[in-house]
Amino acid sequence: MNILIINGPNLNLLGKREPEIYGTLTFDAFFVTLQARYPEHIFHYVQSNHEGTLIDTLHEHGFMVDGIVLNAGAYTHTSVAIADAIRSVTSPVIEVHISNVFRREEFRHHSTISGACMGTIVGFGFDSYRLAVEALIESKNK
Ligand code: DQA
Repeated sequence: MNILIINGPNLNLLGKREPEIYGTLTFDAFFVTLQARYPEHIFHYVQSNHEGTLIDTLHEHGFMVDGIVLNAGAYTHTSVAIADAIRSVTSPVIEVHISNVFRREEFRHHSTISGACMGTIVGFGFDSYRLAVEALIESKNK
C-alpha cells in the first residue's frame, strides 16, 4: 500500500515541543522505525504549518494513495476547510492525535474533521500513527 502521513502545524517541532505532552522522539526518528516495521508498504510524509498547504497536499495525493494518516494539529479544532478537503478526496483518511485531547483543555475536545474521516485514534503517543496504519491495512484487506 501507498500510505501518506500528513502532520500539521507545530508537529515539525516534535522532540523539542512540550516534551511532557509529546515526548522527546522526533518524527523523523519515529518514521524510520515505522518504515522498518512495515517494509511491504510505501510511506510518504508531508508536514506543513500552513492550512492551505495541508489542503493542497490532500488534493494532490488524496486520489492516488491507498490511505492517509492525518494529524492536523490545532487545525483539527477549527478547520472547516480541511474537513471539506478530506470529504473531497477518495483516499480514506484516519485522524490521529499523539496526546489524549479529551484529557486536555475543553477546546481540544471538539474536532471539525472527525466526521469527515474513516476513524480517529487518540492518545497513544507516536503509536497512534502505527495504529492508524494498521487500521488502513486491515480495511484494505476486508
Ligand atoms: C495534537 C493535539 C492538538 O490539540 C494540538 O493542537 C497539536 C497536537 C496531538 O497530536 O496530540 O498540535 O494534534
